[in-house]
Amino acid sequence: MATMTQQGLEVLYTRQQIAERVEEMGAQITRDLKGEKLVMVGVLKGAALFLSDLARAVHVDATFDFVATSSYGKGQRSSGAVKLIKDLDESIEGKNVLVVEDILDTGLTLSYLRGIFLQQRPRSLRIATLLDKPSRRLEKINADYVGFSIPNLFVIGYGMDYAERYRNLPDICLMTPDHPE
Ligand code: IMP
Ligand code: MG
Repeated sequence: MATMTQQGLEVLYTRQQIAERVEEMGAQITRDLKGEKLVMVGVLKGAALFLSDLARAVHVDATFDFVATSSYGKGQRSSGAVKLIKDLDESIEGKNVLVVEDILDTGLTLSYLRGIFLQQRPRSLRIATLLDKPSRRLEKINADYVGFSIPNLFVIGYGMDYAERYRNLPDICLMTPDHPE
């Protein structure tokens, strides 16, 4: 039997499963950095909760920055065009950068961001995504660190939204088409 939340949503990953996986990802990132400094760049708003947990699992000298993109759509489907609506505060030239994203889906957002970040000549550029939906990819891009690889499902919670709602659910849940709004 699937675990359900009080709102009747099916849980895909519980808060405990997320915490364990984020801890493992942080340990891996710590090892890979070999004591070098890091700039963690969160993609607003979906990655906010993941970044705040991952940052505490990465044991290096780190700073934060944030970008925001818009994909011209409020529902489950994006139009494909990515626009930067909040740029980095600081230059990343010569820095070790870890882009922190909630979901790698078509890859349009991360390949756009990777393109503009590489123009600044960082020392290194890595991507950490909590979820990966490889079957949906339109752009050739992979993350260096993946929390969970999932099939083509629409998920909400732990930062992820449907029309801006549900970001504060502590577990990652499935958004089913028949769920009452
Ligand atoms: P991409 O550009 O198609 O890779 O889309 C990435 C963005 O789409 C993610 O950062 C999410 O904000 C959003 N997204 C993709 N799939 C989902 C989902 O299942 N739930 C919530 N947001 C999603
Ligand atoms: Mg996002």
